[in-house]
Amino acid sequence: MRAERIKIKRQDLVTDGKCDTTLLDEVIRKYSGKKGIMIPVLQETQKIFGYIPREAFLRLSDELALNLSDMYGVVTFYAQFRLSPVGRHIIRVCHGTACHVQSAGEITGALEEALNVKDGGTTKDGLFTLESVACLGCCSLAPVMMIGEDTYGKLTGKDAVRVIKNIRIDEKELPV
Ligand code: FES
Repeated sequence: MRAERIKIKRQDLVTDGKCDTTLLDEVIRKYSGKKGIMIPVLQETQKIFGYIPREAFLRLSDELALNLSDMYGVVTFYAQFRLSPVGRHIIRVCHGTACHVQSAGEITGALEEALNVKDGGTTKDGLFTLESVACLGCCSLAPVMMIGEDTYGKLTGKDAVRVIKNIRIDEKELPV
């Protein structure tokens, strides 16, 4: 499969205005002068920032001679990449077949209402990103959602909202 070549201008790329590109030093050192590096470089960049910010695109383009439009084409082609910042907790609601028939839609609906975001969106406080995903690999527990490394199975919409509320409570109790 080939990622589509898209003409992209610097100002079209997203920034949250606080990207520290020195965090990319190690990635640049590791891949400098090597070939076929675009996808691993983008994957490592996303691991650092949670998405690919404008400043990272520009630094990777300058330092590793990766074409801006090619990188953008890859990021928009593969679902694993993100172009906008994500919340501290990513809620993945499974919409694979087993979960779909067990009312995964109800879970997403309840979470959308409780968080006041649409599927794919991030809450205003930056705490949660809600997204629908394909099979999470634990269909016997359907319907399932994952938050970080934690899996929640045999859920109802109410259960899912309760999990979110508990995370919010825990976050408030954490020292700042
Ligand atoms: S379909 Fe949801 S975990 Fe497999």
